[in-house]
Amino acid sequence: MKARSCLAIVLAAGEGTRMRSNRAKVLHQVAGRSLLAHVLSAIADAGVKRVAVVIGPGQDAVAAEARRVMPAAETFVQRERRGTAHAVLAAKAAIAQGADDILVVYGDTPFVRAQTLQRLRAPLGSGAAVAVLAFRPSDPSGYGRLITQGDDLIAIREEADASAAERAIALCNGGIMALAGDSALAILGRIDNHNRKNEFYLTDAVAIARAMQRDSVAVEVEEDDVRGINTKAQLAEAEAVAQQRLRRLALDAGVTLIAPETVFLSADTEFGKDVVVEPYVVFGEKVKVEDGAVIRSFSHLVGARVGKGAIVGPFARLRPGTRLGQDVHIGNFVEVKEAVIEAGAKANHLSYIGDATVGAAANIGAGTITCNYDGKTKHRTEIGKAAFIGSNSSLVAPVAVGDGAYVGSGSVITADVPKDALALGRGRQVVKEGWASRLRALKSLGKKKAHARD
Ligand code: UD1
Ligand code: MG
Repeated sequence: MKARSCLAIVLAAGEGTRMRSNRAKVLHQVAGRSLLAHVLSAIADAGVKRVAVVIGPGQDAVAAEARRVMPAAETFVQRERRGTAHAVLAAKAAIAQGADDILVVYGDTPFVRAQTLQRLRAPLGSGAAVAVLAFRPSDPSGYGRLITQGDDLIAIREEADASAAERAIALCNGGIMALAGDSALAILGRIDNHNRKNEFYLTDAVAIARAMQRDSVAVEVEEDDVRGINTKAQLAEAEAVAQQRLRRLALDAGVTLIAPETVFLSADTEFGKDVVVEPYVVFGEKVKVEDGAVIRSFSHLVGARVGKGAIVGPFARLRPGTRLGQDVHIGNFVEVKEAVIEAGAKANHLSYIGDATVGAAANIGAGTITCNYDGKTKHRTEIGKAAFIGSNSSLVAPVAVGDGAYVGSGSVITADVPKDALALGRGRQVVKEGWASRLRALKSLGKKKAHARD
């Protein structure tokens, strides 16, 4: 049988008033990724290629996020926010092009999985006009209630319009719906706004399909799959759910998380085999940790690649553009940004390495700082293979230290250091023999202003 074609419409035009934010609701993040990006990636994983995103007027940032995640997605503007059915019809031109299945996904339900979307489409193949994703939330407030008669789904009642008896119904609308393409426009065209909120409710599609002698079906899933986000409190709950899922995926992939509940991951965090993550570590977006690496406690990583067998932390900060080679050691209170650190190099204590390359097996002493910023532009520091940077040195970029060269402790390096040379850039030490005992002797004589003369 020929696979059914599908158009997914993502509704993202809502103002998200309940978030009390200047940012569009669907741009809020869970696990380091926008709500919209979560939804679009589930749609892509479900094999759906035609996607329309409905945005509000002036929501350029939402359109840009849609394009970033899915360049082929079309955006449609819903000029006035008059309800979810009205929003779907903003993409009428896309629907009119024809598709066997129309999948309507709300941009604020980030946990929907590809397999759930596929399950929801299945009843359309057997003749249903509408399929609704259903769930039994622990707290049903705010959700539409599903009204059933035996096995038949006959209507959805929005909470604002529900009677006390209807509000007691536990089965709720998850906010994802599949409509058969042959009847979608006919059904949508008959939805009115005669309700408490004067909105065109997509949920009325169920009762209208029934009036047209077409079946609607509820497909029940777990609460976490369809958790809708309307408030900051729900965003925080969603983050907790996302973190639990990601920790579980990492554990299943063989990562050792000593205290999983203290490790925070991003949706795109990648781990190799035999990675160990100690308690209290944060992984921002775009981090890849290769086989056998150890991330010690209290480290914070964003946009970094950690090579095989490397050791990071405790208390390390890896910022975007960090590339650590095999067996590199980055120790406590070391910050690395936009820097490539080649195999076996070590920076074990109290350093800042920014806009730099560090050659293989180089040793960066405690307190080394790459002075990369002159107040206007960033400059690079090149440190050669097996170079040795003595503790408490400042490398004033642009500057290069050659392979195998030494920099004496406490140096301020402002000019290139040739290969295998020693560079000293500090005041010469002066020693005054017996000075301290002369001072003590003067003090014991009770002189008011005691000076131990040179
Ligand atoms: C909706 C459902 C409710 C369901 C719940 C699940 C309706 C009428 N109600 O309620 O049955 O239980 O989701 O989370 O559909 N949007 C637009 N344009 C509009 C209005 C909304 O694009 O004019 C978008 C919003 O950005 C959002 C989605 O549609 O992504 C849902 O809107 P929202 O206001 O969150 O609906 P709920 O009250 O949550
Ligand atoms: Mg909602």
